[in-house]
Amino acid sequence: MDISNRNEEQYLTFALGKGRLANKALELFEKIGITCEEMKDKSSRKLIFVNESLKIRFFLAKGPDVPTYVEYGAADIGIVGRDTILEENRNVYEVLDLGFGKCRMCVCGAPSAGELLQHHERIRVASKYPNIAKDYFYNKKHQTVDIIKLNGSVELGPLVELSDVIVDIVETGSTLRENGLEVLEEVCPLSARMIVNPVSMQMETERIKSLVNRLRAEIVNAV
Ligand code: PRP
Repeated sequence: MDISNRNEEQYLTFALGKGRLANKALELFEKIGITCEEMKDKSSRKLIFVNESLKIRFFLAKGPDVPTYVEYGAADIGIVGRDTILEENRNVYEVLDLGFGKCRMCVCGAPSAGELLQHHERIRVASKYPNIAKDYFYNKKHQTVDIIKLNGSVELGPLVELSDVIVDIVETGSTLRENGLEVLEEVCPLSARMIVNPVSMQMETERIKSLVNRLRAEIVNAV
């Protein structure tokens, strides 16, 4: 192995879920002195951003792909919502709750649909998160349901009678309110999490532990 390869191995690579979570994560990293000036240029079409002095690389990916990059070791560390971690169920370590992106995974529907959840009826459930929905209904509620996968605007499901209820993220609740729907049951709380590749955790234990400790201290301070 030549020297450049050895240097290459010293980089810690972060995969960030594109969008709000990535911006919040970068703000948090900046507070502990991890910056990436290259990433601030919004007009840039670059996909990978490097901080040479800290030997850190960042790339942005679609949220559901972040656990995939981390499981395969293409990224050592990922920042992604707990919803995605639960849905993708990849072989990664979840090491830190970053405390932002707080919301809830809920079963929602018209108020009248509440009744359907009480009697173990075979109902239709639309969701962007079929695995979370399946786990909740089959393993926690022991209710057999038909799950319909959608890719967004899931609230349409009950409105156009595609489904009886939905399993979806509720943050402020305004999408539900404006469409005459409500939370019927809470599945679990959600927030942004840091995940780590199991091999990276072994090979870079000190570096990753120190990063997690500094981030944890910053998060506690901010509360
Ligand atoms: C999410 C979620 C809800 C909405 C909840 O959708 O799926 O639709 O936000 O937020 P609220 O409680 O603050 O109204 P997102 O905006 O990610 O788009 P999507 O519907 O295409 O998934």
